[in-house]
Amino acid sequence: MSNLNKDTAELTIDGKVFTLPVVEGSMGERALDISKLLQETGYITLDTGYKNTGSCVSTITYLDGNKGILRYRGYDIEDLAANCSFVEVAYLLLHGRLPNEIELESFKGLIERFALIHEDMIHFFDHFPSHTSPMSILSVMVNSLCHYYPEMSDDPLDDFEVTSTRLISKIRTIAAFSYKKSMGHPLVYPRSDLSYCGNFLNMMFDKPVKPYVVRPEVVAALNKLLILHADHEQNCSTSTVRLVGSAGVNLYAAISTGINALWGPLHGGANEAVIEMLETIYADDCNFEKYINKAKDKNDPFRLSGFGHRVYRTYDPRGKIIKKACDEILNVLEISDPLLDLAHTLEEIVLRDEYFIERHLFPNVDFYSGIIYRALGIPTNMFTVMFALGRLPGWIAQWKEMREDPSTRIGRPRQVYAGETARKFVPLDERS
Ligand code: SDX
Repeated sequence: MSNLNKDTAELTIDGKVFTLPVVEGSMGERALDISKLLQETGYITLDTGYKNTGSCVSTITYLDGNKGILRYRGYDIEDLAANCSFVEVAYLLLHGRLPNEIELESFKGLIERFALIHEDMIHFFDHFPSHTSPMSILSVMVNSLCHYYPEMSDDPLDDFEVTSTRLISKIRTIAAFSYKKSMGHPLVYPRSDLSYCGNFLNMMFDKPVKPYVVRPEVVAALNKLLILHADHEQNCSTSTVRLVGSAGVNLYAAISTGINALWGPLHGGANEAVIEMLETIYADDCNFEKYINKAKDKNDPFRLSGFGHRVYRTYDPRGKIIKKACDEILNVLEISDPLLDLAHTLEEIVLRDEYFIERHLFPNVDFYSGIIYRALGIPTNMFTVMFALGRLPGWIAQWKEMREDPSTRIGRPRQVYAGETARKFVPLDERS
């Protein structure tokens, strides 16, 4: 295949030459537009796991997997994590620009207005088995929210500001309430004098017998973590939200499916799996060699959680920031976590090992995040819930972009069929 010129490529099939348009993004990424391939050639493409396939043109997040660059709406993640609140970054993702003071105050006012959930929803928590995963509860509760807002059955883009902000505010309350219910503790309601993150922490940890002190350093650490998880272009859960959303379901139903996709241990569930892996290695006399060999063994399903990434071929820029924040917050809280030392050692061993070097396997966003969540007092089974709280604005922004794109059609991939060819039907009484 050769490029005729900047804007087209040639594809020769069975001696016939087809011309494919080349699409170039604002950062110079180039793609072959195959939207007419089947109609013109009779061929489809096959790309299991979509490693080579772009699903859309997007203006929200830019990744450079080789250079380790991550930008939301053009702003480097390092600048946003160092200078913004999560609410500011949520506004940026939803609206395409950072808010001015008036816009930010108005956005915060909507978040405060929508912080409560309908009291009837609190009874939902009483009917989950005690061992139910908080991710499962979150998905059910978010999906159920739409029934309290029948106006959403119309075009939710009509009232997007309210619809989106309502969910960003309530998901925090749902998460904290599910934790309190799981502990058998009285619910703590949101307060108007606390920030987005301060409210969440207070709803999680305040107790009648021992009031929770909302420490600025802890709020800052949570803000940073939520910002770092806020969007990541067309990852598994975001692609799920787009695909389900393309069928025309309401926003809350689409987000609920994204929560389920994120739950997977290969995706957002990895932050919980990392802590479980570190605890296993710690309990096994820190036998690093055993687990490194297991991770390399093709016959062993064990993989090093928190390492590797479909896009990054270098250190995940989010992982770098979280690793540094780990040391900072544990120092401030005067916590010494043996798992942090173990994580550092494991990283050093992996980054020196040819097997992992050859495969460009570096720590990703999930490798150190759990250490911070532990330090903040968040239980391991809620780590992926924290990922979902962070990713929500990104999912919503991507859903909105999909719904507003006039080229959007219902997502419906094809396949290569490898099953039985046509067979003559045999009635039941004639079958052997
Ligand atoms: C997230 O997409 C996103 O942007 C996701 C995310 C986001 O913000 O939305 O960044 C969040 O999901 C981060 C990833 C969290 N998952 C984990 O930490 C789970 C452990 N990682 C792996 O399972 C894996 O690296 C994936 C799932 C992240 C990526 O899988 P790929 O791209 O399909 O890569 P692969 O499985 O084909 O691996 C390529 C090679 C294989 O070896 P070979 O067959 O070439 O010999 O690398 C090996 C794999 O066996 N490999 C690992 C490994 N990850 C890949 N070997 C040991 N340990 C690992 N963690």
